[in-house]
Formats: sequence, C-alpha cells, structure tokens
Amino acid sequence: MHPIPLTARRNGPLTGRARVPGDKSVSIRALILGALAVGETRIGGMLEGEDALNTAKAMQALGAHVARSGEQQWTIRGVGVGGFAEPKQPLDFGNSGTGCRLALGAVAGCPITATFDGDASLRGRPMRRILDPLERIGARTLASSDGRLPLTLAGARDPIPIVFRPPVPSAQLKSATLLAGLSAPGETTVIEAQATRDHTEKMLRHFGADLRVEPFEENGRCIRLAGQPELAPQPIAVPADPSSSAFPLVAALLVPGSDVILESVMMNPLRTGLLTTLGEMGARIEALDRRMEGGEEVADLRVRAGALRAVEVPASRAPSMIDEYPILAVAAAYAEGVTAIRGLKELRVKESDRLAATAALLRGNGIKVEIAGDDLIVEGRDRPAGGGLVATHMDHRIAMAALVLGFGSEREVRIDDGSFIATSFPGFVELMRALGADLS
Ligand code: S3P
Repeated sequence: MHPIPLTARRNGPLTGRARVPGDKSVSIRALILGALAVGETRIGGMLEGEDALNTAKAMQALGAHVARSGEQQWTIRGVGVGGFAEPKQPLDFGNSGTGCRLALGAVAGCPITATFDGDASLRGRPMRRILDPLERIGARTLASSDGRLPLTLAGARDPIPIVFRPPVPSAQLKSATLLAGLSAPGETTVIEAQATRDHTEKMLRHFGADLRVEPFEENGRCIRLAGQPELAPQPIAVPADPSSSAFPLVAALLVPGSDVILESVMMNPLRTGLLTTLGEMGARIEALDRRMEGGEEVADLRVRAGALRAVEVPASRAPSMIDEYPILAVAAAYAEGVTAIRGLKELRVKESDRLAATAALLRGNGIKVEIAGDDLIVEGRDRPAGGGLVATHMDHRIAMAALVLGFGSEREVRIDDGSFIATSFPGFVELMRALGADLS
C-alpha cells in the first residue's frame, strides 16, 4: 500500500447523522462460522474493510464459497465443522490479528496443513499464546520463527477437548480455542478470569451449537462447548462497530458546538467501556431508541460537545474498551485535570506498540503525558496545541485518534500514513467530512 498522508484542522461544529461500518469482530466471526456451517449464510451490513476481506479470502482458500451479493451483503457456503480443504497458497491476513488468530483456531481442528502470514505489523505480534491451547488440542506448529508469522500449522487429526484458562484476558484466545474445540469429541471449556467480548459464544449458539456460559468468580466466565455440532446457517445482521463510532463520537465531544447522531451502534456491555468512561468525564451522550438488531442491543447515540473532566480509569475496565485507549487518551488531552489510565500492558502487542504510539501522538502535539509502568497519565487542557506530525506505525486506530485530536487543536495535526484506516473503517475520511470536519 502507498502511504496516504492526511491533515486534520479545526473547523466549525460537527453536525448531522452518520452510520459507521459494520463491527469488525462480528464480521470476521460471521465469515468463519459461515465457512464452518453446512449450507449458505447470509451476512448483511458486513464490514468491507481489509481485515474482513482478508478473512473472506482465507475462507475461500479453505474451501468455502464466498460471494458479495450487494453493498455490504455477503453470502458464504460452508464446508461443515472439520471440513476445510488444504489451501494451495499461504493465507495472508494482512493487518488482522483477529482474522489470523480465529482462523488458526478453526484450522487447528481440521486434518490439514496451512501457512499463515500477514503484513509487517502482524508479523511482529505474538502468536505463541494462541499456539499453546491449539497444540494441547492436537495441532502442531511445523514452522515459525519464535512463535511469530509466517507460521505453518498442521491441524489435529484427532482433536482432544481441553480445559483452558487464558493467561491474559483475550477474546481472540478464547475464540480460537472454542473454534478448534468444535471438532473435538466431548466438551471444550474456557475459563476466563475477566469476561471479554462474547460474540463468538453468541454466534455459535445462534448457529445451533450447544454452548453454556456461567459466571466465574467476580468478573469471569466459564464457557462450555459441546464438540462436533452440525452448525446450521443463520442470517446475520452486523451492527455498527462501537470501536469505529468512538472516533466521530469523541470528535463531536471536543469540537465546540457539535451535535451528532451515530446510528445503530452496538451496545454489547462487553464493548461499552468507553461510553462508561466518557460518562464519568461528563460527556453529553444519550443512547436513543435502544433496540435489538441481529441478536445485539443497538442504539442511536446523540453526542453533544461540552467540557470534560479528568478521571481515573481502572484496569478492570480494559477488556470492555481494549481498542478505545488511543481515542480515550485524545479525549483526556481535552479534559480538565490529570487523567490516569491504568493497566494497559496488552496495548503493547496490538497493531503497534499502542501504549508508546499513543504517548508519542500526544507528546508531539504539546500534551504532557507519561507512561508509568503499564499506566498512561495525561495532563489535559481546554485546547491542545497540535502542530505535530504523528507516526502511525501501520496502526489504523493511532491514525484516526491523531486526526480527531487535530479537529480541535490550535494548530493542524498531520499523520504520515492514513492507508491503514481502511482495515477497519473504510470511508472514515468521507464520513468525517460529511459531518463538517476539515480533513485533507
Ligand atoms: C478482538 C479482540 C481484542 C481486540 C481486537 C478484536 C476480537 O484482541 O483488541 O481488536 O474480535 O476478538 P485481544 O483478544 O488480543 O484482546
């Protein structure tokens, strides 16, 4: 991809209505479960960003039939649990950790060998943590340098059901284990100490799997999946991605006079940590017309600009806002006082070292910030200086967070490369411009 430098400048208030693209997590899961079902799954509102498109290509290479039938409308004819064919070429997941790790799980339960690869960002991310449970189930890692991509996985011929306790709260780890467990006879159990997004569990149930969830200790869950189900295709309506809506949402909070409605945003409680935090900061956000769509609660979010105050964000909130820290840090830069954001260790292994990249983003634009252990401390002010050129490190969320900072700062904010925004939020530039932002 060619780098696309972008510049954000202050402009008048943001106004109007917008609907951000479909949820990335749900779109990727719909493609993978569709590929494992017998028959045709119809997906509406699918994210047509690079991360989902790379997953679609991988499912096709594994023997499923994937077709686009209209705008954001996709159909996928699956091969059944355990029925993947051996791909002729390496599977290229581009920038997508979710697509890659969930597909590793799905392949681990099939008697085939496949090579997994991705771009420079994905090649730098840890895969050992996902290979551990998959090897216990019976898959073998044939080639990999130090648990990183490219890697070759031989799926299990006789998968074994396991009990797995993820060492870090991670929906990807949980999901990969459950997807591999689909092929095993008997019960696969995942015990997570802190609940993470539950889209895989919900969708497996939607497709007819026997899956039970019980609370575990204070904040955790115990998930039991009965193996070797026949998955029956079900229509899937993908709600708008709350992680993508976070960018126009925070932009509307910090550009004076703004009043914006973001439509049909998914309100799954395991994804709404940012809304909780912004509420504590005094943000004016109303959830209108709460309703069910495609098995998830959604709402139209009305967001109005107003003063924000600093808060302390507890580490326990991380799983419900894991992708929202760069944009929360931008909101904190505009808040009165010192915001302390705790427990950000996992940010170091996202699409970039997001803890370092977020701190650099703020610092380069005149905001006082400090990394203290795994915490980020941000000293806010009414209007940050801006004027920086932000290095985005192949990270879509760093790119969008930096541009949002620039919509309200004294001086313009530039980013070196906006091309990765297309991984999760195609149409970001156009959507922001339609609301009134100055982005060139
Ligand atoms: C995701 C889980 C999270 C998140 C990612 C999407 C998912 O990753 O950061 O963007 O769809 O399961 P981890 O499982 O590594 O926390």
